Amino acid sequence: MYQLRKLENNLESVLKEFNVTETIDIKLTKNESFDLQINNLVKHKDNPNLSKIIDNFQRELDNEPFIKKYEIGEKNFINIEINLNEFLKTVENVRNFIKVTNPKKIIFDYGGPNIGKPLHVGHLRSLNIGRSLYNVNKLAGNTVLSDIHMGDWGMPIAQIIQYGVENKINFKKITIQELEEIYPIASDLYSKNNDFTQLAQNINKNLNNNQKDLITKWKSIKDTSLKSLESTLHQLNHKFDLWRGESDVNDLIPDMIEDLKSKNKISLDDGAYVSDLKTDPKILITKSDGSYLYLTTDLATVLDRLDNFEFDKTLYIVDKRQKLHFEQLFSSLEYFDFPTKEYEHVSFGTVNDADGNPFKTREGGTKKLTDLYDETYQYIKTINNELDEISLGLLSNTVLAYSDLITNRNTDYKFDLEKFTNVNGKTGVYIQYANVRAQKLINDSSLEVSDFSILSEELDNNDKSLLRSLIKFEFYFEQTIKNNEPHHLADYLYEISQKFNGMYQGINILENENTVLKENKLKITDLFLQYSNLLMECLGILPVEKM
Ligand code: ARG
Repeated sequence: MYQLRKLENNLESVLKEFNVTETIDIKLTKNESFDLQINNLVKHKDNPNLSKIIDNFQRELDNEPFIKKYEIGEKNFINIEINLNEFLKTVENVRNFIKVTNPKKIIFDYGGPNIGKPLHVGHLRSLNIGRSLYNVNKLAGNTVLSDIHMGDWGMPIAQIIQYGVENKINFKKITIQELEEIYPIASDLYSKNNDFTQLAQNINKNLNNNQKDLITKWKSIKDTSLKSLESTLHQLNHKFDLWRGESDVNDLIPDMIEDLKSKNKISLDDGAYVSDLKTDPKILITKSDGSYLYLTTDLATVLDRLDNFEFDKTLYIVDKRQKLHFEQLFSSLEYFDFPTKEYEHVSFGTVNDADGNPFKTREGGTKKLTDLYDETYQYIKTINNELDEISLGLLSNTVLAYSDLITNRNTDYKFDLEKFTNVNGKTGVYIQYANVRAQKLINDSSLEVSDFSILSEELDNNDKSLLRSLIKFEFYFEQTIKNNEPHHLADYLYEISQKFNGMYQGINILENENTVLKENKLKITDLFLQYSNLLMECLGILPVEKM
């Protein structure tokens, strides 16, 4: 844990004195009477120096101001109770102590829409998880760069163009509605009609050679698509640093292939280039007609990013069905001697409908994100018809993000509006409601709350319970960063919101005659609000002001 890092270091040094090298990891405990625990000594029960180690551990624990009380159990578990006043004193600096010691430059490759197609339910998780990991890493002090990495090149575009040419479509005036209609028809024709296939493949080749009239048509398609993408992403509160796509790296591919040939890393196999790395299945670098594959583009994208953005690490936040693709990409990067950097596929499961089937529209198509947003908006409006448009919009985005992030990213989940908007459930509505209550209490008090200090002698059990939960922030923050898993923080936001509700319920705080109680509760409310806001920031959620 961040604030206890010094203690962890000191305990590690004690072990080292007795020739034991290991990391001390102070963890949360399930033991109700304590906050934290240290398990390291359990496995050293037969160490002849154990009693000396324990003596030295005690010396360190006694000297630690954050610790109120500790206990070494018979199996040498160490249970720790935190001194709340000391530990939470630094809450205003929470943003400082979560900074990493060695910041990295990290690229977040997420979203990944394909032009010509609308954003749909399949994009929801990549967007939510990507935005959250971006925010969390930014708060941790890493240099972050998001890239939407559009699928804006290759066969799908060639299919649209071929269809447009056949049907005399004026590309200059093409609308997003037309494009969205054409896309499925063209890809259907491509798989069923041989003539169409041939012509589209020919267009693809000429597009790759930058044939002028095709590039003009491609630009029109891309412009129309981009406008619609930008408006949907704006509605869902998403921003990207880079709007690059597959088309941006196309010109790097021929040289990359030449280079791999000269280094004897790829060879011809039935006219196709295949990696010489022994794998099953084999890794294809080009098709037999010379055209490029998804993998070829992703390799070139790495080259492009190495040249332009000097990164330490790339996270690809993409559906788990692409697992093999990323395994092939990462093993190829290594085999082809690309500069050594960290790469990780942050995968996730599917969003299903309430019956557990893949989310479809009534007509059987994929559900658009704008439609999902509209439905959520209307649903919240019916249960809360006094809310203004801004709050409704914020709440809709909260529901779409929170219900997604609360699920472990590798688990599939059912999208269930009734459940996700339940004011009493583990929902985005619930966490916003607690936040709004806290804002209102602080505003109505008209006091300079941050001037109070916490008076632990007068705390009731609900106060203590909430404060003891606030200690855990850094623990869950660390878990999220380490495993790229926002659900730890989403879950934790629910925990503190619930405890906050317990803390003020049944008590009139503002008109209470006991000033110590009143000031305690207001100070705790203020602490809660700061943590709640910070957690929302981590999750990519904006707090609403009234509900
Ligand atoms: N456009 C791709 C798709 O629809 C997702 C892109 C993910 N990012 C990447 N670098 N491969 O499947």
